[in-house]
Amino acid sequence: MYSLKDYNTFGIDVTCPSLHEVNSEYHLIELLANKTSDEIIILGGGSNVLLINDLELPVYLNRINGIEVVDESEEELIVEVGGGENWHQFVCWCMNNNFGNFENLSLIPGTVGAAPMQNIGAYGEEISKYLINVSTVELKTLKKRVFSAEECELGYRNSVFKHREKGKYFITKVQFRLSKNRKVNLSYGAIESLLAARNILKPTIQDVSKVVIDIRNSKLPSPSEIGNAGSFFKNPIIDEKSFLELKNKRPDVVFYEMPNSQYKIPAGWLIDQLGWKGKRVGNTGCYAQQALVLVNYGGATGSEIYRHALTVQQDVYDSFGVEITPEVNLLGLS
Ligand code: EPU
Repeated sequence: MYSLKDYNTFGIDVTCPSLHEVNSEYHLIELLANKTSDEIIILGGGSNVLLINDLELPVYLNRINGIEVVDESEEELIVEVGGGENWHQFVCWCMNNNFGNFENLSLIPGTVGAAPMQNIGAYGEEISKYLINVSTVELKTLKKRVFSAEECELGYRNSVFKHREKGKYFITKVQFRLSKNRKVNLSYGAIESLLAARNILKPTIQDVSKVVIDIRNSKLPSPSEIGNAGSFFKNPIIDEKSFLELKNKRPDVVFYEMPNSQYKIPAGWLIDQLGWKGKRVGNTGCYAQQALVLVNYGGATGSEIYRHALTVQQDVYDSFGVEITPEVNLLGLS
């Protein structure tokens, strides 16, 4: 048995029967040809999972590295990045080389291979805008398959890899478009106000990256200090009827208008209103600076965190009639 404590950012101590590091596509195919179980579990940075119980399946860690420029023009370039590269290290590489597009996505934990799974996004940007394709190996047949951006069906914290093709492919490489003359995106209010407070009038991509890092550090706990997996729930998207009922009950509700008369409500606001923010329950609870983040204060079990998540989810439903669903992947659910 192998402990997974060091392989998930919640720091949950569960075990798996075998643990394999995958270093290249060739290595992956070799390992999969000898696999002993039809199903496997793939982990990148382990930053978007909650391990609820010991796992019965073998675990494969994506450690395929490398950043390669595959095409370049005056305006932009196309890079192919190994699925095991750390996302923030890749963003730092972009910043050091003055390539824009991902500065707003600085400091997101996890790996490049996991990024298309939930279409990572923050501060007014998401990778769907710059994704070109995703190279994979099909676990069952060991055949390579490249998914175009369209075939990935990227949505809000969602992709084909989270529903129809769930558990069927190993992401080996991802291609992105980077910009050489990026016009910075300051649409998220806090970025603009922090830049203004620092008297930065013509921000560079590096300035934006620094500001994003500071905002994240002020709101989100660092997994090296306190176990967590970022936002635990997705922000619910509700129809007009449910929205009007909610607004009637709570005229101060925070919301974002979406296409087709739909409304996105910050789950963090809903949870905060119910008094869960900063409240500790055993070894877990909702983080004091951002209620949407569940934390492990030390020694929490996966099932303890899961039970707390269910309590919060039920309370939000009973109080507001709004269903919130986990954004993190739940593993070992019996
Ligand atoms: N809010 C509260 N109380 C809280 C948390 C939030 O009232 O405890 C309110 C805020 O005041 C604000 C609104 O809710 O009016 C939205 O909060 P915030 O801007 O912090 O963003 P979020 O909707 O809670 C999302 C992403 C984050 C991403 C931020 C910034 C999801 C599930 N989460 O959070 O992504 O960093 O926007 O763009 O969409 C992640 O996916 O792990 C993650 C951290």
